[in-house]
Amino acid sequence: MKKYVPLLPLLLACLLLCACGGPAPVQEPEARDLAVVGFSQVGAESDWRNANTRSMQQALSAANGYRLIFDDAQQKQDRQITAIRNFINLGVDYIVLAPNTETGWDTVLAEARAAGIPVILVDRMIEVEDTDLFTCWIGSDFRKEGDTAVRWLEEHYGDAPLRIVHLQGNIGSSAQIGRTEGLDAGLARHPAWQLVFRGSGDFTQAKGQEVMEALIRDHTDFNVIYCENDNMAYGVIDALKMAGLRPGEDAAIISFDANSTALRMILDGTISLDVECNPLHGPRVLSIIEQLQRGETPPKFTYVEETSFDAGGLTEEIIGVRGY
Ligand code: AHR
Repeated sequence: MKKYVPLLPLLLACLLLCACGGPAPVQEPEARDLAVVGFSQVGAESDWRNANTRSMQQALSAANGYRLIFDDAQQKQDRQITAIRNFINLGVDYIVLAPNTETGWDTVLAEARAAGIPVILVDRMIEVEDTDLFTCWIGSDFRKEGDTAVRWLEEHYGDAPLRIVHLQGNIGSSAQIGRTEGLDAGLARHPAWQLVFRGSGDFTQAKGQEVMEALIRDHTDFNVIYCENDNMAYGVIDALKMAGLRPGEDAAIISFDANSTALRMILDGTISLDVECNPLHGPRVLSIIEQLQRGETPPKFTYVEETSFDAGGLTEEIIGVRGY
C-alpha cells in the first residue's frame, strides 16, 4: 500500500556530494517511503476544529512515516466531495474524512471503494446505504452529549419554568443532530421548559453573536442558552455583555466542546456547564492506519470516552493538562 517518494533528486544530491568527496548525506524523512493520506477536514469554524486539525497533522507526520495531504472544505460538502475525488486521482493510500453533514456520501465513497482506497471516518458520522463504503469510524456520541447537558439542567432546575434559547450547529451534522435530539427529549419530559428560540449559528463565534444580538433587540425573554459549541457560546457571551446582561447570572449558559478558554469561563461563573467533545483524534487515526498497514481489522465503530465540567471540582490544574 505504500507510495514511494521520488528518489531522483536525492540520488543526484548524493552523487554530487560523493564526487566532491564530502560525507554521505543523512537520509531526510522525504527520502523514505511514506504512506500518503488525504484528509478532508470540515473547515476551520471553531477552536475545536483547529485543535482537531493540529492533532491530525502532528500524528500523520513525516516523522511517523506519513505524507498528509490536507484539505479545508470551509464547511461545504461539495468541496469535500471534490477533495475526495482529487485524493482518488492522486492515488493516495488512505482517505480520512471528517464529514460536514451526514447524508450525500454514497456516490463518492463508492468511487473510493472502486479505487481500492480505505476510507476512515473521524468525528461526525455518515448515513449511507452500505456501511462497507467506509472502513471504520471514530468520534463522539453526540446524542449522549446532549443527554448529559439535559441531565444537568434537570438536576439543577427540575421542573422550574425555563425559557431556553437553542443555538444549533450546522444543520445536518451529527454534532447538531445528537445535541438537538438530547434537548428535544428533555423538552418532551418537562412541559415547564419552553423553547423561546431555535436556530443555527453554524458553530461559529460571529454567527452566535449575531443571533444573540437579534434576540436581545427583539426583547426575547430567556434564562437558559443552550449553545451547541464553545465558539457560539463566546459570541453569545459577547452579545450579552454588550447589552449589559450578566452571562451566568441573567442566563445559564450550557456549551459543548470543553476548550480551555471555555473551561476558564466556568471558573469565573460565565458558563454553567460544558460537555466535553474531544478533538484529539490524530493518535487514534494513526493507530487505525497502523492496524490496516499490518493487515489487521480495526473496530468498525469506536466512541471516544467523554466527560462534562461545571464549577464543582474544576481547577486550573485540570484545565492545564487537557491539551486543547
Ligand atoms: O463535530 C464536532 C463539532 O464541530 C464541535 O462541537 C464543534 O466545535 C465543531 O465545529
